[in-house]
Amino acid sequence: MVCDLLDAAATARAIDEAQPEAVIHSQALSDVDRCELEPDVAQRMNVEATAHVIRALATSAATFVYVSTDYVFDGAKRSPYVEADQPNPLSVYARSKWEGEQAALAYPSGIVVRPSTLFGPVRMNFCDAVVQAAKQGRTIEVFSDQTTSPTYTEDCAEAIEALVRWKAGGPTGGARIVHVANTGACSRLTLAYRILELLGASREVARPVRMADQRRPAPRPPYSALETTELPTVIGRRLRSWDDALQAYLRQPR
Ligand SMILES: NC(=O)c1ccc[n+]([C@@H]2O[C@H](COP(=O)([O-])OP(=O)(O)OC[C@H]3O[C@@H](n4cnc5c(N)ncnc54)[C@H](OP(=O)(O)O)[C@@H]3O)[C@@H](O)[C@H]2O)c1
Repeated sequence: MVCDLLDAAATARAIDEAQPEAVIHSQALSDVDRCELEPDVAQRMNVEATAHVIRALATSAATFVYVSTDYVFDGAKRSPYVEADQPNPLSVYARSKWEGEQAALAYPSGIVVRPSTLFGPVRMNFCDAVVQAAKQGRTIEVFSDQTTSPTYTEDCAEAIEALVRWKAGGPTGGARIVHVANTGACSRLTLAYRILELLGASREVARPVRMADQRRPAPRPPYSALETTELPTVIGRRLRSWDDALQAYLRQPR
């Protein structure tokens, strides 16, 4: 079933038809710079669409998993953020996602999941961009002053599925915000160098730049590594290291 979440009536119809036990809401406008330049679009895509889904679930007991982001943090902490840390979003995108979080938490069975820099099959991502540049013999500019916790979409999806099962198991109370990222943290440059090393390509492919030098429209947190404090309680384990996950991804046929 395909549904435009900007259309409240269509969203209500789709949810009524599906009668879901759980909804995993990963839809968003995640282009941070576009959000900054077009805040109205960000508001519609990230806040209103989320509200349409939550409103459509109002009379149901379905679990609602809201996929948020590490960008809700400002980066000032300089050590991995735990779920209890106070967000302080720096950009239009981050503010809209935080607003989405609050709507999710106001829904009784709402859970907020925060991944960090995503990589994985299907959608073009930072890791793919580095691989492509290496294969085409180009260089690619890479932030040297931004640290995150790279998150493999397949590991993240598995964790969300386990989280939904945990919730269905009927715990009362428990975590409402869960960081879901591969273990560890690195700068984008370290990530790019590791990708190049695993490909057997030259480090020269990645050209280090500072965020300020690129003059992108949206500010990004310089540090948004995530500590996954709640995961062991909720799904029984932390995720494998980002390096192991990266190797698994790069081993996939492409
Ligand atoms: N990218 C990252 O590194 C990152 C990091 C942390 C958190 N996140 C969060 O993770 C989630 C996924 O991000 P992403 O970067 O993977 O985004 P993405 O590739 O742009 O995926 C967004 C999805 O939303 C769907 N969508 C967009 N508008 C829609 C609408 N009106 N109705 C129904 N579906 C619609 C898109 O459908 P189509 O396939 O049809 O376009 C797409 O499947 C987002 O919530 C984002 O905030 C992303």
